[in-house]
Amino acid sequence: MKTYKVDEDGFYGSFGGTYVPEILYKTVEDLKNKYEDIIESEDFLNEYYQLLRDYVGRPSPLYFAKRMSEKYGCQLYLKREDLNHTGAHKINNAIGQILLARKMGKKRIIAETGAGQHGVATATVCALMNMPCRVYMGALDVERQHVNVERMKMLGAEVFPVESGNMTLKDATNEAIRDWCCHPADTFYIIGSTVGPHPYPEMVARLQSVISQEIMFQLKEKTGRDYPDYLMACVGGGSNAAGTIYHYLDDKRVKIVLGEAGGMGMYTDKTAASLNIGTVGILHGSRIKVMQTEDGQIIEPYSISAGLDYPGTGPMHCNLFDTGRAKVLAITDKEALQSAFELTRLEGIIPALESSHALALLPKMKFQKDDVVVLTVSGRGDKDLGTYLSHKNEIDYEAI
Ligand SMILES: Cc1ncc(COP(=O)(O)O)c(C=O)c1O
Repeated sequence: MKTYKVDEDGFYGSFGGTYVPEILYKTVEDLKNKYEDIIESEDFLNEYYQLLRDYVGRPSPLYFAKRMSEKYGCQLYLKREDLNHTGAHKINNAIGQILLARKMGKKRIIAETGAGQHGVATATVCALMNMPCRVYMGALDVERQHVNVERMKMLGAEVFPVESGNMTLKDATNEAIRDWCCHPADTFYIIGSTVGPHPYPEMVARLQSVISQEIMFQLKEKTGRDYPDYLMACVGGGSNAAGTIYHYLDDKRVKIVLGEAGGMGMYTDKTAASLNIGTVGILHGSRIKVMQTEDGQIIEPYSISAGLDYPGTGPMHCNLFDTGRAKVLAITDKEALQSAFELTRLEGIIPALESSHALALLPKMKFQKDDVVVLTVSGRGDKDLGTYLSHKNEIDYEAI
């Protein structure tokens, strides 16, 4: 049977692999050789699940959205990652990686962040485990996700604003990798998404796969069967989507539909729709689809949403897109904003701007009334209130 899981060399089809500078080779090899044994050990699993339960508040609810279901003519369930401690799915992965870092004897933690959710999650687990933490963040994101910057600082992390490029997630990641190259032995780099050199994409997907593990038993309880007809999520680097689909990857009864950031429009120069318009290249240690010029220079991405503003997508999703296993639609800023207000008014849930890109897939679908749809709300919208307020006059309230 064809599988969409990773192969032994760290590839999903032709995407993935480990493309790292020589200075990091030993560190990445060491992680590759040790991580599976550690995350499958009883010791690790006990601590990981105990923290997910008592600290994060898992399982996150699977909520039947009645009014949205009526509007879209389906049975819509929302997987509420927005209700996790720290406000997004990112904490699932951060907890797993900090436990791993500790077991590998690392003394210092670094991370990159876009929307600040991964930065906050990392700063949180570093406070919990009493480890020093440095978070790299593009200077533009420092401005537009200011509340998260203050949260990270209050948690004791050092936030390092990055002034290169367009001062967003790609630039923060470049800087974090530079730091890692200078301190390969004692530093653990907690990557926040299913990107980077193997084994990161698979490791992050596995640490987020608690989402689909829960969907299985929650759906069984609520509908009598353990699989949906559709799974939907937004994609930046790909971690909440990977977690949502992980246990269903090879189950063809389940259709996968994902929303990436179309920005001002997929064919404008203000977009981050790398799966739809990108070409194959190497970025941040992995062979993926990237937005690049003909001579391989990265095209600066754009999205209203800091967490989706990245010029590539992780290798698992590149393969799902290329093989047709997942349908990936580009969602514009305007569509995402409209959907954020719609969820707020119909269900009383203010979603993160990133998650609004998943919600904006709904008007583009043609469902049957009985179709069971599970859509992951990856985070809550508190951090995006400023953006929502500045666009509130552009919303079509009559259409809600
Ligand atoms: C709430 C939220 N959802 C989604 C994303 C996108 O990341 P990923 O594709 O890894 O889930 C982010 C990234 O910052 C985020 O904060």
